[in-house]
Amino acid sequence: MFQPTYPIHTTRLVLRPITLDDLDDVYAWQSRPDVVRWMLGVGPRTREQSLSSVAAMAREDALNAVGDCLTLAVTTDAGVIGTVELVWRSETDRTAELGYVFHPDHGGRGLATEAASALLDWGFGEFGLHRVYARCHGGNEASARMMARLGMRREAHHVESYLFGGEWADQLTFAVLAREWRARATAPDS
Ligand SMILES: CC(C)(COP(=O)(O)OP(=O)(O)OC[C@H]1O[C@@H](n2cnc3c(N)ncnc32)[C@H](O)[C@@H]1OP(=O)(O)O)[C@@H](O)C(=O)NCCC(=O)NCCS
Repeated sequence: MFQPTYPIHTTRLVLRPITLDDLDDVYAWQSRPDVVRWMLGVGPRTREQSLSSVAAMAREDALNAVGDCLTLAVTTDAGVIGTVELVWRSETDRTAELGYVFHPDHGGRGLATEAASALLDWGFGEFGLHRVYARCHGGNEASARMMARLGMRREAHHVESYLFGGEWADQLTFAVLAREWRARATAPDS
């Protein structure tokens, strides 16, 4: 079983597993059309649907096998403002996929980038990953900017590669390697 030592502290944030007590905070963003707009197969959730989602995320506190997702609640004094996650994609290739969702009230301050960086520090550090990638809808500019801010390289722009809401959609893939992450972490202006 692989999991960070909880909680993870960053300059402005505390990261820890989700609990059922987080339902109100999670529902606050999961119910918003602007938050779920670019997410495949996800519409604004009812409170009941958010409860199921929170219950599922609450079980994602460790990686036991390929395919597992590690989901962390990102908290400030305002409560849970978003989540970051790592899906373990390959043991052989030591690869995982990064994901993130934040409440717009807390956007535009670099908090999502700070939280994702902490998760990548654990992924490339203790967990020993070689490569982390992330994908987004071609129209999700905020997500693409975030991946670039994390130092991820834009590796692919797949044209009309998947069906999104009944329409063909483009998908962007960004990635970063462990050695690149370490070099970035020790760079003077990082
Ligand atoms: C993707 C998402 C997390 C990005 O949120 P965000 O607020 O842009 O990201 P951050 O919290 O890292 O803030 C970065 C912004 O704050 C600005 N900023 C201010 N202070 C900053 C700081 N100290 N450090 C870094 N950035 C800072 C940056 O310039 C950037 O703004 P810009 O993108 O306009 O240039 C958010 O849009 C979201 O949750 N979207 C809905 C869910 C979603 O689409 N998830 C991805 C699915 S693939």
